[in-house]
Amino acid sequence: MKVLNFGSLNIDNVYRLHHIVRPGETIAASSNAVFAGGKGLNQSIALARAGAKVYHAGMIGKDGIFLKELLEENGVDCSFLDISNEVPSGNALIQVAEDGENSIVLFGGANQAMKAEKASQVLANFEVGDIAVLQNEISITSEVIREAHKRGLKVFFNPAPMSRDVADFPLELVDTLIVNETEMAELKKSRPQLDFCNLLLTLGSKGAVYYPKNGGQKIAVPACKVEKVVDTTGAGDTFIGYFTAELAKGLSVEICLAHASAAAANSITKAGAAVSIPFINELGF
Ligand code: RIB
Repeated sequence: MKVLNFGSLNIDNVYRLHHIVRPGETIAASSNAVFAGGKGLNQSIALARAGAKVYHAGMIGKDGIFLKELLEENGVDCSFLDISNEVPSGNALIQVAEDGENSIVLFGGANQAMKAEKASQVLANFEVGDIAVLQNEISITSEVIREAHKRGLKVFFNPAPMSRDVADFPLELVDTLIVNETEMAELKKSRPQLDFCNLLLTLGSKGAVYYPKNGGQKIAVPACKVEKVVDTTGAGDTFIGYFTAELAKGLSVEICLAHASAAAANSITKAGAAVSIPFINELGF
């Protein structure tokens, strides 16, 4: 079974400061660093570090070659990753406060310049039973969901960052929807019934709950305790990548949730998004 992640890649500009800047306020950062990021890239790295065979489809600009190199160093197949001559890579301006919380401003760049036909071109290389992983940071999410479903792939969709148009996406074709509490509340305003697919609700420091489709028995896991939170950026992506990779190995949902939770907890003890994601052999399972 192959995992295709059709997702974003960003250059993360990270500023560490006392607190997230308030409207009208100017504050000095204690450090500034550039990291590889993007929810798509982070999830691909997590999938690969958890041991999955993962293909990343997407687009970067010439300024983002280091993003591709990082994916390749981690064993991610980048045959379906385009490099644009016209547009720059996506980027993110990230503030990380002393307590590890973050706030993010996104510029879509190449992630938002992908054309609809790329969905069918890429998915022609995948087959029934493969998994397609998606987030909400690229321009052709609906097309990819439709094409992946048509070819018999299972679609795992994380509608982050949440936007109004998510309600119009073909969610009925999704196998597993992965949301946090805010995203779920927003989605339920237009889609009150979400039991047509598996629902994985991530609750941060309170753990996660999995609701199987059609009203099956829910499965809950607590979050792992963390002594000192350094940076929560990419924790959700780590969770999703590990959960999906472990599920693709045939492990039970309960074990997948526990492993994803341990990986996410480990990631927040380090700075950065992709670079903070642990390798599976560091986690002792
Ligand atoms: O989930 C964290 C990611 O969100 C960051 O790496 C940033 O690029 C944004 O996409």
